[in-house]
Amino acid sequence: MYLRIENLRKIFEENRGIEKINFSIEKGELISLLGPSGCGKTTLLNIIGGFLKPDNGKIYLEDRDITDIPPEKRDISTVFQSYALFPHMNVLENIKYGLKYKKLTKKEQNELALEYLKIVGLDGYEKKSIQELSGGQQQRVALARALVLYPKVLLLDEPFSNLDAKLKISMREELKELQKNLKISMIFVTHDQEEALSISDKVVVMNNGKIEQIGTPEEIYYSPINEYVANFIGKSNFILKDGAKKLIRPENIKIEKNQKGSWEVINKEFMGAYTILKIRNGIEELYVNIQGEKGREYKLGDLVEISM
Ligand SMILES: Nc1ncnc2c1ncn2[C@@H]1O[C@H](COP(=O)(O)OP(=O)(O)O)[C@@H](O)[C@H]1O
Ligand SMILES: [Mg+2]
Repeated sequence: MYLRIENLRKIFEENRGIEKINFSIEKGELISLLGPSGCGKTTLLNIIGGFLKPDNGKIYLEDRDITDIPPEKRDISTVFQSYALFPHMNVLENIKYGLKYKKLTKKEQNELALEYLKIVGLDGYEKKSIQELSGGQQQRVALARALVLYPKVLLLDEPFSNLDAKLKISMREELKELQKNLKISMIFVTHDQEEALSISDKVVVMNNGKIEQIGTPEEIYYSPINEYVANFIGKSNFILKDGAKKLIRPENIKIEKNQKGSWEVINKEFMGAYTILKIRNGIEELYVNIQGEKGREYKLGDLVEISM
């Protein structure tokens, strides 16, 4: 194991915080910490980064216990949610900042910072002030400032949460490509399930300070271990079958219009590539996805029959 988290615990007043946190990351892996606001993601990230001391537990990086090592000596860098760029420094000075702890000449620091500026697609921006940059550009500077230190692990706390939907998607593609090219291990915090599914090798689903499930995106989507995980990851249906609740995803239910059908369409959401119908039979409500333009055929009040 490259990075190993063992039984971490940090409890603040009113019993808030995290506990029983165990997971590990291989070299070059991208893991997401996914959970709702307040579930302890930032607390966990701050402990791994060295900014917060755990009450209990250990962190090992390449089998070295780093639990009590200060942040700048951990070989771990963090991109904070607010970016935390230095407003009085220009772009290049921001990127160079952490390099002063490394044994490099001024010239080497400059060259390295310029190289990473290029890597994040901001070639030519070195003299700009932070205020002149858009949110997306500031995000890239924050990323370059962390990457230039060539950390063994990069921590990212909801890095794209301040960006608009389209930029978010292109930034996550870029991050994924960067991660594969640089072979850097990353822990990516998000409350956005779609983002976690699309970007991660593995997802750690958190709830109320604890881990609910760890798995590949496909595992947690198709085999969630409980209703909490199923509901957090995409839309889900639970159908009572042989006394047990069974998960059926909306895309796995087929429907057909039928005047005598026992289900009624009570809501319709057009998503572009597909349509989500909500249907009701008097006892249960289900979500059903219809691919493509076929969704146009359905309207509220239509009666339908289903098969699975
Ligand atoms: N320094 C602190 N002092 C007291 N409570 C805190 C502190 N930091 C976080 N908490 C509490 O711990 C819980 C987890 O917070 P946080 O890790 O920020 O969650 P997330 O990043 O998932 O939104 C929240 O209930 C929060 O109020
Ligand atoms: Mg947070």
